[in-house]
Amino acid sequence: MFTSNCLSTNEKNHLTIGGVDATGLAAEYGTPLYVLDEDHIRQNCRLYTKSMEQFYGNNGMILYASKALCTMALCKIIKEENMGLDVVSGGELYTAYKADFPMERIYFHGNNKTDEELTLALSLGVGRIVVDNSYELARLNTLCEKENKKASVLFRIKPGIDAHTHDAIMTGQIDSKFGVAIENGEAMTLIREASLMKHIDIVGVHCHIGSQIFELSPFEKAAEVMINFIGDVQDELGITIRELNLGGGFGVRYIEEDDPIACDKYMEAVSKVVKETAEKRSVSLPRILMEPGRSIVASAGITLYTVGAVKNIPGVRNYLAVDGGMADNPRFLLYDAEYDFVLANRTNEAKTQRYTVAGKCCESGDLLGRDIPLPPAKSGDILAVLTTGAYNYSMSSNYNRIPRPAMVMLSGGKSRIVVNRETYEDVIKNDVL
Ligand code: LLP
Repeated sequence: MFTSNCLSTNEKNHLTIGGVDATGLAAEYGTPLYVLDEDHIRQNCRLYTKSMEQFYGNNGMILYASKALCTMALCKIIKEENMGLDVVSGGELYTAYKADFPMERIYFHGNNKTDEELTLALSLGVGRIVVDNSYELARLNTLCEKENKKASVLFRIKPGIDAHTHDAIMTGQIDSKFGVAIENGEAMTLIREASLMKHIDIVGVHCHIGSQIFELSPFEKAAEVMINFIGDVQDELGITIRELNLGGGFGVRYIEEDDPIACDKYMEAVSKVVKETAEKRSVSLPRILMEPGRSIVASAGITLYTVGAVKNIPGVRNYLAVDGGMADNPRFLLYDAEYDFVLANRTNEAKTQRYTVAGKCCESGDLLGRDIPLPPAKSGDILAVLTTGAYNYSMSSNYNRIPRPAMVMLSGGKSRIVVNRETYEDVIKNDVL
C-alpha cells in the first residue's frame, strides 16, 4: 500500500512510521515536521555495504552523499555504519567534523571550492579531495605547499554518459559544469599537470552521471568508460589509478509507478563490467567507491503538515493549504517532482477527491502537488507527504522568513528531536540594525 516498508497503518487508521503513530508525532512536536526512521536508514546503509562486500570484498567503500540530508545526527549514523561521507561544501564538512566523523573517510567534492574551504579540508585532514579543474588543482598545490602538506586527490571526470536520455546515448556530456571531459583530452591533461606537482598525490578518478536513475545500462557504460580511461592513464602517463569512485544516482520509489533497481543487482552488474574491463586493459582492480545519497534516506522520511484552508472552486479545482510548502520542500516547484500523499489521521478512507496541495508562501507556484487524490479533507487533518527524506531539509530555505521545521528521528519505536524547530529569533539572528 505504501511506497516505503517503514510505513503502515495502525488500528486507529492512523499512518505509522517506524511503528510510531504519525498523528502522535504531529501532536507532540508540532507541524510542519520532518520525520526520519533511523532503523530504516541503517537498513538501507547495510544493503549497500553488504553488497559492496559481496562483489568487491574488502576493496570498496560506500560513501553517503550528504547533500541529500546533512545533520550531525545523520553523520553519527553513517559513522556507526562504517561508511564514508561525500561532502560538497565547507558547511557539510563542518557538520561532519562537529559530529566527530572520521575525517579520513571524507571525500570533498565541489566544482568551485574556495580557498577557505580547501584550507579547512587540509587542516581537518579530510581523506580525499575530488579536484574539479586545473584552476583548483593549482590552488590546492599552493595551499599544500604553504602548509607543507600533500593532498590525496581524485579527479572529477565527465565520462560522456547522459543518463537522463533513455538509452544512455553519449551526447551533451561536455556541456556540464562539473569536471573535465575525456574525449577532448582535458582529463588526461589535468592528470599530467598533477603528476608534476610536489604536493599532490594522485589517488583516483571519479564520475557521477546523474540522479534518480532507474536503468542499469548507464551505470555499466560509465564503469566501462572509466576503467578504459584508467587504462589510458596507465599507458600514456605510467600512473596507476588506485581508486575509482562511481558516484551516486540510484533511483527511489516516490510514486507507485517508480521502479528502482535493487542495489545488489546494480552492484553485481557494475562489478562484472569493472572486472572484465580491468582484465582487458591489464589494469589492477582499483578500490571501488559509490556515493548513494537519495537511496539511503529518501524512503526513510515523511513530512507532516496540518491542513489549513480548503477551497473548493466549482468547475476549476480544489485547493488544500498546509502550514509548510516550498520553503521546506521546493522539489515540486523546481522539478515537478511527484510524491505520494496520505491523510495521516484517516488512512482508511477512500480517496474520492482531488486536491492541489498549496503551501503558505506568497507565491502561486508554491505547491507540493497538483490534483492529488485524497479523502475529503478538513482543516485540522494531518497531511503526510511520503519519501521526503532526501533533498527536502537540505534544500529548505527561510523564504518569507518562515522558520524551518523541526526534525525527529525514530528508533526502536521511540522518537527524539535531531534538529530543533527554528524560532523567529533564529530567523533574525544575523540581521544588524
Ligand atoms: N555524488 C555526486 C558527486 C553527486 O553530485 C550526487 C548528487 C550524488 C553523489 C548523490 O546522488 P543521489 O544518489 O542522491 O542521486 N536536488 C536534486 C538532486 C541533485 C543531486 C546532485 N548530486 C533533487 O532533489 O532531486
